[in-house]
Amino acid sequence: MTDTKKTAQLSLNGETYELPIFSPTTGPDVLDIRKLYGQAGVFTYDPGFTSTASCDSTITYIDGGKGELLHRGYPIDQLASKSHHLEVCYLMLYGELPTAAQLEDFETRVTRHTMVHEQMHNFFRGFRRDAHPMATLVGVVGAMSAFYHDSTDINDPWQREVAAIRLIAKLPTIAAMAYKYSIGQPFVYPRNDLDYAANFLHMCFSVPAEEYHVDPILARAMDRIFILHADHEQNASTSTVRLASSSGANPFACIAAGIACLWGPAHGGANQACLEMLKEIGSVDRIPEFIERAKDKNDPFRLMGFGHRVYKNTDPRAKVLKQSADEVLELLGVENNPLLQVAKELERTALNDEYFIEKKLFPNVDFYSGIILEAMGFPTSMFTPIFALSRTVGWISQWKEMIADPQNKIGRPRQLYLGETERNYVDIESR
Ligand code: CMC
Repeated sequence: MTDTKKTAQLSLNGETYELPIFSPTTGPDVLDIRKLYGQAGVFTYDPGFTSTASCDSTITYIDGGKGELLHRGYPIDQLASKSHHLEVCYLMLYGELPTAAQLEDFETRVTRHTMVHEQMHNFFRGFRRDAHPMATLVGVVGAMSAFYHDSTDINDPWQREVAAIRLIAKLPTIAAMAYKYSIGQPFVYPRNDLDYAANFLHMCFSVPAEEYHVDPILARAMDRIFILHADHEQNASTSTVRLASSSGANPFACIAAGIACLWGPAHGGANQACLEMLKEIGSVDRIPEFIERAKDKNDPFRLMGFGHRVYKNTDPRAKVLKQSADEVLELLGVENNPLLQVAKELERTALNDEYFIEKKLFPNVDFYSGIILEAMGFPTSMFTPIFALSRTVGWISQWKEMIADPQNKIGRPRQLYLGETERNYVDIESR
């Protein structure tokens, strides 16, 4: 954050107030209103935080107009094509791409933490088999603070580091366990000879009765999905993690809060909702009917996997995923997958429709990810847990950044109160 000594003037009730302006390294300037209430006695009003920067950060930059997403300055398409998830995790956590030695050390630290406490297996068994895996994930990740309380002291930098590594290492294990539990199969222990994505596929799809070979092309596609979901600056779940952590809550509790927020259909739940929508549409000839419904103000239906709060041109993650969808379906010999045909035609129709053009609505990251995940063999209920395990590095990097920031204080928004003013209590017989 650079203080350029620029200011903005606010005229209010005959007084003029100077508001400092901060200039970021890239992106729009930011008005500093922290002293506004103290000086002028007014709050600002911004439900949904559409014009509010809640923190400063050096991790992720999005230019919604250009459709650009940078992690520590590196464009997402370069990371998706040249890097791999654990290297991106290192970049997010420590700010720079690792040397070969640093990467080897980091990978060793992560793989040595992939197993979960054996007692956790019993904890899982308390859930109903038909529970949504996100419900299980919120519960088990929250419970990590009961299993790993030696890394919950947020004032100890070493414990913060251990908590970060544990979360990145164990989330795939916990997500795979939630899946195995839901289908009544035994839990599969992690394999540290496999890379991060291949290990996850192995834990999800292998059974003790036979050998399971992870196809490297599928592992690569899985890894790419992890990278594309790794972070997205101050989105709803990340802001939830930061707000929860601002009170000093432990990292496992904060990440569980982030997972709960991610579950909603307007956020991480959109990939499940999108695939269900594509199935409901079913065939290309029904697309116009659904497009009309999406445009109808009296119908709550929205095209899932379309639109974004920040991107107003293109979602760079969707471009990479569209290509990945083609590759994976071709590999699996299902390139004529009817859902992919519906998705492509729906995209084409919407992008040529005045409503979607005018409102700048186009496919987001969730539009093609569900098709890939389903082709790999995941049920729709696992889509959001996969988003959660991919986003864990973003949440924990933002959490670490926040805790280390000397300006960190408890998040406490104010409100525009529209309720009753003070009135006297009325006894029940007189109401
Ligand atoms: N289908 C039809 N109309 C839409 C859609 C859509 N998917 N998205 C937005 N609109 C319309 C909306 O009705 C509104 O119209 P009007 O101005 O006439 O009232 C206008 O576009 C602006 O919508 P908004 O709800 O004010 O925009 P927002 O920035 O608050 O919402 C969004 C962004 C992502 C929640 C929204 O576009 C949406 O609900 N999309 C579908 C769900 C989805 O795909 N979510 C995944 C987001 S990306 C992954 C992630 O971050 O988790």
